[in-house]
Amino acid sequence: MIFVTGGTGYTGRWVVAELLKRQRRVKCLVRKTSDVDDLDHEDVSLVRSNLEAVDNWEGELAGCDAVISVAHIKYAPFVIDACKKHGVSRVVFFSSTWRFSKVKTPVVASLIQAEEAIKASGLDYTLLRPTMIYGPGDDHNISRLREFIKRRPIMPVFGSGEQHVQPVFVSDVARAAVDAVFCNEAIVQAFELAGADALTYNDMLNTLSESMGRFLLKVHVPISVGLVLAILGNRLFSRFPIQEDQVRRMKEDRAFDISEAKKILEFEPLTFHAGLQASTQLTGVPGL
Ligand SMILES: NC(=O)c1ccc[n+]([C@@H]2O[C@H](COP(=O)([O-])OP(=O)(O)OC[C@H]3O[C@@H](n4cnc5c(N)ncnc54)[C@H](OP(=O)(O)O)[C@@H]3O)[C@@H](O)[C@H]2O)c1
Repeated sequence: MIFVTGGTGYTGRWVVAELLKRQRRVKCLVRKTSDVDDLDHEDVSLVRSNLEAVDNWEGELAGCDAVISVAHIKYAPFVIDACKKHGVSRVVFFSSTWRFSKVKTPVVASLIQAEEAIKASGLDYTLLRPTMIYGPGDDHNISRLREFIKRRPIMPVFGSGEQHVQPVFVSDVARAAVDAVFCNEAIVQAFELAGADALTYNDMLNTLSESMGRFLLKVHVPISVGLVLAILGNRLFSRFPIQEDQVRRMKEDRAFDISEAKKILEFEPLTFHAGLQASTQLTGVPGL
C-alpha cells in the first residue's frame, strides 16, 4: 500500500493512476474540500484530513510501505514527523527546479529549507525536482498560455525570449515518481525532471501556437520596463497578473541536466512537441 499526498492535484492524479496501473493499492490523504471524483476506485482508499493536522492522519500510515508526497514540499515537516513515528522510511518528495533560481525570494528560500529538512530527516528519501509541468486540461502553466493565444494574436515577452525552458509532460513526472519509490538506487538522491528538449522561450511559444494552428506575434518588452510594470501594477492593483520575480526569472536559463534521472530512473521524457500532441489526444487521466 502506497500512501499519497496531493492525489487530487494536477500531477497527483497521474501518480495515483500510475500506481493503479502497476496493481498497487493506494491510500490518499485528501482534504474535506478536495474534489475526489477521479479517485473513486476499488484500490484507492481515502483519508479525509489536512496535512497540517498531523495528529488526525498519522495513524493511517500503519501498514503502508511507502509515501509519495506530491503535495507542496512546505508540508514535508508534517510528513517527516508522521513517517518517523509510524516506521515508514521510504518517502518520495516533490520539490522544484525553482530552488536553483538566482532570483532569491521567500519561496526559493523555503524550498531550499524544506529540502534541507528532508536531507536531515534520516528517512530513505528521494527528492524529485520537476520543471514546469504541463499536459491535458488545466495544468496552470501551458494551458494559460494556450488560453491567451486563443484570445489574442499578440503576446508580450519580457526580454529576448532566448533563454531556455524545458517543460515536462505530466505523465513522465508521474512515472518517475512511481519508479523512484520502488528503486533502491534512488534512495537519498535528488533528480531534476525536465522534458527531453531544452528550447528557447520563443521556440516554446512558436511550438505551442503552431500546434494550435494560430499565428502569434511576440512583442519583446525590455526586462526593465517589465519590472516597472510589475512594481507599479502590484502597488495599484490587488491581483496584478505580473510579479516582479517572474519578470526577473525571464533572464534565467531554465534548462536542466536530466542524465541522473535517465540513468537511475530510466526517465525518458517526451519532447515538448510530442507532449503537446499527447495533451490534445487525452481528455482526462487514463485509468482514473
Ligand atoms: N505544477 C508545476 O509546474 C510544478 C513545477 C515544479 C514542482 N511542482 C511541485 O509538484 C507537485 C505537484 O504540483 P501540482 O501543480 O500538480 O499540484 P496541485 O495541482 O496544486 O495540487 C496540490 C495538491 O496538494 C493538496 N493539498 C494542498 N494543501 C493541502 C493540505 N493542507 N492538506 C492536504 N492536501 C493538500 C491539494 O488538495 P486539494 O485538491 O484539496 O486542493 C492537491 O491535491 C507540488 O509539490 C508542486 O510544488 C509543480
